[in-house]
Amino acid sequence: MNYNRLSKEHKSFLKEIVGEKGFTDTPEELEKYSHDETEDFSFLPEAVVKPSNTGEVSQILKYCNDHKIAVTASGARTGLSGGALPVAGGINLSMERMNRIIDIDARNLQATVEPGVINQVFHMACKEKGLFYPPDPSSWGSSFLGGNLALNAGGPKAVKYGVTNAYVLNLEVVLASGEVIWTGANVLKNSTGYNLTQLMVGSEGTLGIITKAVFRLIPYPKHNLLMLIPFGAPEKACEAVSAIFQSGITPSGMEFMERDAIDWTLRFVEDVQLPIGDDVKAHLLIEVDGNDEDILMRECEEIATIAEAYGAGEVLFADNQNDKDALWKLRRRVGEAVKSHSIYKEEDTVVPRAELAKLLLGVKEIGAKYGFKSVCYGHAGDGNLHVNIVKADMSDDAWQNELPKGIREIFKLVKGLGGTISGEHGIGWVQKDYMDIVFSPAELALQRAIKNAFDPNGILNPGKIFVDH
Ligand code: LAC
Ligand code: ZN
Repeated sequence: MNYNRLSKEHKSFLKEIVGEKGFTDTPEELEKYSHDETEDFSFLPEAVVKPSNTGEVSQILKYCNDHKIAVTASGARTGLSGGALPVAGGINLSMERMNRIIDIDARNLQATVEPGVINQVFHMACKEKGLFYPPDPSSWGSSFLGGNLALNAGGPKAVKYGVTNAYVLNLEVVLASGEVIWTGANVLKNSTGYNLTQLMVGSEGTLGIITKAVFRLIPYPKHNLLMLIPFGAPEKACEAVSAIFQSGITPSGMEFMERDAIDWTLRFVEDVQLPIGDDVKAHLLIEVDGNDEDILMRECEEIATIAEAYGAGEVLFADNQNDKDALWKLRRRVGEAVKSHSIYKEEDTVVPRAELAKLLLGVKEIGAKYGFKSVCYGHAGDGNLHVNIVKADMSDDAWQNELPKGIREIFKLVKGLGGTISGEHGIGWVQKDYMDIVFSPAELALQRAIKNAFDPNGILNPGKIFVDH
């Protein structure tokens, strides 16, 4: 698809809409907005446009649609699938100035926000009112709710509380034409027509620009307990996961980390110390939460007993908030630690929970066949394994030409186990070549038809999700 380059006139028109503060095209700023957290990709936008309200977004989109200018929306640019990369140039529509929590309605347990609110800021504002917004991706300290919506982000709490889409009631969306719509209603039940709200969630800025979101909230659980359980065999840790759920307990966090993941992160964060025996090859980090501490204690004991049957070593309980914070810090920073360690690629595999051990063993076998090393960690309770393939001493040639075949094999394995190729990071730029593994031509055609209905000129986030867009 061809897009118009930004002319001087285009730029001054856009600048008029958003004002001096909302427009930049200096080389340093363009560089900054040329990448997200996905590997080392960088695509320069021609300008960065930062609207401050829905009306401005509407004018910008109408103008870009009329003039066939590519629009790539971005949030905090913490994404891992390249969704915010402006691969076709044009404008980077940064939502950073639309960062108001408009309302936290404690009477209805709902909140209305703009897309540029940082996840953790929102979480804490809700918590102050005794309310809980559970989705907590590892990037929650910086990632925006708008980006979380665009990717249907998850995080550790998803295993008990669900991912972002479980909390979305209604969205204000600006269409490519500039028209402003609301997708639903601020209600807990809704069987009125097609569910455009859920269609928007996870659509990666390819169907419209979210300018307001209404979330449902739940009461904040009063207590939580956290434990770290070491295992001698990673696949045994994976098997223990489904056994724990089968016992009737639903932990509020059930995270898996291979030995390398925790070792590299310990070196990376420095201020956390954790002695780990040589025979430990993986850990489960398990949290339970609720309002009755005695029940939680009993659940922890039961979990420990089950884990023992899978060869677990001595359980480490986090005794106080500091210890809990340290363990969560270790877990949340694995991704950054791996990235800092080596050139790498992250695959966001997800399978039915009970297939996790097969997935892990299969990934290692495929790695042995193609000569790559992988560091695996993730949300084991959701069957969501982040497979980080590290370049280490692989040749450039093998990395470029052989590895894609290996990744294809991993995704075929995932599909064979009943899973799919992204649990929470999205398809974006880096996974689109693999969509044919999980969708038939008819299924892909339907998805493309939806894209065309929303964005007939293809201006919104071009080059993403589909190979030929
Ligand atoms: C995590 C991110 C990478 O689980 O999804 O840490
Ligand atoms: Zn994750």
